[in-house]
Amino acid sequence: MSIKFLLNGETVELPEANPTVTLLDWLRETRNLKGTKEGCNEGDCGACSVMVTDRSGAKALNACILFLPQLHGKAVRTVEGFAGPDGTLHPVQDAMVENHGSQCGFCTPGFISSMVAAHTAGRTDHDVILAGNLCRCTGYAPIIRAAEAAQDQDAPDWLSVDDEGLQGETSSLVSAPETVDALAELYEANPNATLIAGATDVGLWVTKQLRDLEMPIFLNRCVDLQLFDLSGDTIRIGAGVTMAWLYETLSIYHPSYAELIRRYGSEQVRQAATIGGNIANGSPIGDNPPALIALGATLHLRKGDTQRDLAIEDFFLSYGKQDRAAGEFVEAVTIPKSAVALRCYKLSKRFDQDISAVCGCFNVKVVDGKVISARIAFGGMAGIPMRAAKAEKALVGQPWDQTHIDQAVAAMADDFTPLSDMRASANYRMQSAQNMLRRYFAELSGVETSVLEVTA
Ligand SMILES: Cc1cc2nc3c(=O)[nH]c(=O)nc-3n(C[C@H](O)[C@H](O)[C@H](O)COP(=O)(O)OP(=O)(O)OC[C@H]3O[C@@H](n4cnc5c(N)ncnc54)[C@H](O)[C@@H]3O)c2cc1C
Ligand code: FES
Ligand code: FES
Repeated sequence: MSIKFLLNGETVELPEANPTVTLLDWLRETRNLKGTKEGCNEGDCGACSVMVTDRSGAKALNACILFLPQLHGKAVRTVEGFAGPDGTLHPVQDAMVENHGSQCGFCTPGFISSMVAAHTAGRTDHDVILAGNLCRCTGYAPIIRAAEAAQDQDAPDWLSVDDEGLQGETSSLVSAPETVDALAELYEANPNATLIAGATDVGLWVTKQLRDLEMPIFLNRCVDLQLFDLSGDTIRIGAGVTMAWLYETLSIYHPSYAELIRRYGSEQVRQAATIGGNIANGSPIGDNPPALIALGATLHLRKGDTQRDLAIEDFFLSYGKQDRAAGEFVEAVTIPKSAVALRCYKLSKRFDQDISAVCGCFNVKVVDGKVISARIAFGGMAGIPMRAAKAEKALVGQPWDQTHIDQAVAAMADDFTPLSDMRASANYRMQSAQNMLRRYFAELSGVETSVLEVTA
């Protein structure tokens, strides 16, 4: 596979790149660029963060779960590439020095990469941006102070080559189709191929499970999969839409769902992970499926020229098994534009950068004090993301009051038999899920329930 990208301002061409070598391994082992550190090698610590620029702008990504073909046509900057040709430091680097933002220095290249990417993109939500970069010695206050000190300074000219360089032609890659039709044809002809979207799961199959991937097909160049269609009263979301893009759109239409996505992994993970990957992997603890089920989403699947639609909850058959044929892929998912009663609650051991122990999403319609429909869905309560059918039944047609909430809470005990695992015990999961329904009732009754705004 022949790939081409900019690395610290210089064109790199790799005529025979191994498609499942990670950028981190390649930088350290082939280019001797050892500023980019390996901490966890699974997307959790941010030590390997680099800045990647493409048509949608500059972003920080974790190099440890980023395969070389995902960089084709893009520009990569490592910590060795942020200073100017004459050695002038980037304003972020200067500010880190001035504000004592580094002690042992192991995390520093990753922090600098995340901060420069944010600075280039004009972002100032530093707490959000840096939640995926771990530091064990300096503490975060000096680092945040450095980010604030640099935020109003101009981006240096020498980085603009990354945008200009991207205007150069790059050839297409057979294993990275650029249209959904080409993808459908390629995958139907090679149903055993491994689809790779953001690689926030698949990357770990390689780095942690040491698996060889059969014929990888990369989806990140398939622009058709990255579109939103906002016509009418629905939103069609292409399977290749990342969590970062999804967050932007949901902030307008579904703020509670957007807040769930804001807590999805870290900035680096959200910039890579796609909604298609989060659905297709069938994880019982993926964050999107409960929200999509509560919204009554329709999933669009495609195999060759054949397209079919199904209610999203029908896609998840049993643990590890989905209603998806060989050679069939997730093309898009459609949700309603409006659902004023939608609320999404994520419970995880850490507030940021953690997978849910329980994720509950609620969408109950009440007219004249009576429940006319209820969609309640959970992740983490069964082997698949699932509706709380008995709890819903206890509510529909009844007055929206505490008595019926109590009955629905009791009914929920018959809906699920959750597991105990390292994230939570079965009892804790059940009690938390039931409490989420109580919280939902309180919130819709006007009680302030945000865990970020607790007052004594
Ligand atoms: C550090 C870290 C934190 C995380 N935090 C969260 C979190 O908070 N919440 C959460 O839900 N998940 C989390 N995850 C899990 C991961 O981000 C998701 O499962 C992610 O959505 C996968 O999407 P992707 O695009 O990266 O998929 P990939 O890893 O590329 O693929 C995942 C699977 O889906 C298949 N696939 C991908 N796209 C398609 C398609 N269009 N059609 C058919 N099959 C397809 C692939 O073949 C593969 O089997 C985290 C992961 C990491 C590494
Ligand atoms: S090494 Fe920890 S995120 Fe990559
Ligand atoms: S400076 Fe030591 S880990 Fe951050």
